[in-house]
Amino acid sequence: MKNRQAKIGRNDLCPCGSGLKYKKCCMNRKISEFEQLKEKYFRDHKIRLKEKKNIEGIKEAGRLAIETLNMVEEQVRPGITTDDINTLVHEITITHGARPAPLNYRGFPKSVCVSINDEICHGIPGPRVIKDGDIVNVDVTPILNGYYADVSKTFFSGTPGPDERRIVEVARECLKRGLDTVHRGSRVGDIGWAIQTYAEEQGCSVVREFVGHGVGFDFHESPQIAHFGQKGKGVLLVPGMVFTVEPMINLGAKELRILDDNWTAVTRDHSLSAQFEQTILVTANGYESLTPYDLNAPLL
Ligand code: MF3
Ligand code: CO
Ligand code: CO
Repeated sequence: MKNRQAKIGRNDLCPCGSGLKYKKCCMNRKISEFEQLKEKYFRDHKIRLKEKKNIEGIKEAGRLAIETLNMVEEQVRPGITTDDINTLVHEITITHGARPAPLNYRGFPKSVCVSINDEICHGIPGPRVIKDGDIVNVDVTPILNGYYADVSKTFFSGTPGPDERRIVEVARECLKRGLDTVHRGSRVGDIGWAIQTYAEEQGCSVVREFVGHGVGFDFHESPQIAHFGQKGKGVLLVPGMVFTVEPMINLGAKELRILDDNWTAVTRDHSLSAQFEQTILVTANGYESLTPYDLNAPLL
């Protein structure tokens, strides 16, 4: 098998300083180190580490996901229906030779999740008309050449009130702080700890029932990424891990209820809920978002 990680030529001197050619020294060791880690992570945690060609594939799906979300952002305004968003997402996805992962996933009937105001996630598009002042989460997951990328944002429709603005700001900052903990050597629990600490400091709450997840080869892979938890606990992050971070943050209490459609999760106390999600690759130096968008841009 070719060593796809090496940027150094096989006949170059080995960077370890042995004086041997790279091919006679660490070139093969490096392959087997990653292969060993890959086997170990699958054996111990059922985590499928991604190699370079997989990462390229997920990144392409990610580019389509972001392009889709950008087109949705231009359309979200008072008067459109959630079905209009579904149609748009479906069309863009198909046009690019991809498939929308939500469609028929465990019986989900549409191509995108659209969740408004007190809806936490998994809102099913339909005839509902988006109003001025609504907050609208749109969660897209295309499958392109067999690879999945999962991303969501919460948009304002028209002019948000102070509560709407606040929950969206806090949720976005939660994703940012969660991502800031991601690097080789940190643990899954560090992510949840950072998110929970910030959300609760702000007087908001973290939804427990839905978590981030490994992604890429499938919609939902190991590990689960809780948005609450303890520093230093959980699986050690290693390069090649790809997972989502997607905190759902409520302005009131954390408890939820599932509507009779068996999908839509809403806050029990009807308080507002917002969510931001990206698909993240753990790298040698930190992380790279495979569905990047700016988490610092001014909100409106
Ligand atoms: N995109 C959601 C997530 O972030 C999952 C939606 S499942 C569906 O994990 F069936 F509702 F689409
Ligand atoms: Co997800
Ligand atoms: Co998602």
